[in-house]
Amino acid sequence: MSARVPVIAVDGPGGTGKGTVCAAISSRLGWHLLDSGALYRALGLVATQRGLPLDDGASVAHLASGIRVSFSRGERAADPVRTTVNGADVTEEIRSEECGSAASRVAAHPAVRAGLLVEQRAFRRKPGLVADGRDMGTVVFPDADLKIYLTATAEVRAERRHKQLKQKGIDVSLRRLFEDMSERDRRDQARSVSPMQPAQDAMVIDTSRQDAAKVLETVWDLVCRCFPRQADQHN
Ligand code: C5P
Repeated sequence: MSARVPVIAVDGPGGTGKGTVCAAISSRLGWHLLDSGALYRALGLVATQRGLPLDDGASVAHLASGIRVSFSRGERAADPVRTTVNGADVTEEIRSEECGSAASRVAAHPAVRAGLLVEQRAFRRKPGLVADGRDMGTVVFPDADLKIYLTATAEVRAERRHKQLKQKGIDVSLRRLFEDMSERDRRDQARSVSPMQPAQDAMVIDTSRQDAAKVLETVWDLVCRCFPRQADQHN
């Protein structure tokens, strides 16, 4: 019988520092990384490019079964994970707010989520997996060894995202961003399948008053407690 592969599930809304934490933890441990949001973003992008109505669950699910999304790590730990769809690099394109919003619309369909379940679970490979998303601890990996739910006030999250976009030279009004993110949160929380919510056994961390380094330190402490042997090799 093959040994069980450990999973760390990190869930929560955008702008909480989830992505940064997951990339850092997976690289420190030398574990695989699943950015499940990138899967939904890639699907939202292709559906939009092909002019599919995003509210048509059957068509979007059919599209999902026919495209191949893959991830590859850069040579250096600080390099971003590259995302390709059917071989085309969409790493930067899927990070736009429009893609985030399209992702949340396609992600609301039960058939789409069911189709992506097997794909996401296939990321669970030795020596371990850090999974970033909205339903990692509740639905995709309910037996995860460590479940973390990062949260922060909507105002703080919008300000963080605003700053990130500004650094990339993208000019969006803070108010518009706040409204878009709030609408996305509402949709993610209200959908009938896999709504965004902390798993009952998740550690909930409010990052509103913590900078990125502090959030990482807090999460790394939890990882060390849960996986003392693996973390010891990297401290
Ligand atoms: O995390 P990120 O902002 O990249 O996710 C984009 C959107 O994809 C989310 O707003 C959410 O609607 C959807 N998503 C999801 N389930 C996940 C990850 C992302 O529904 N596990």
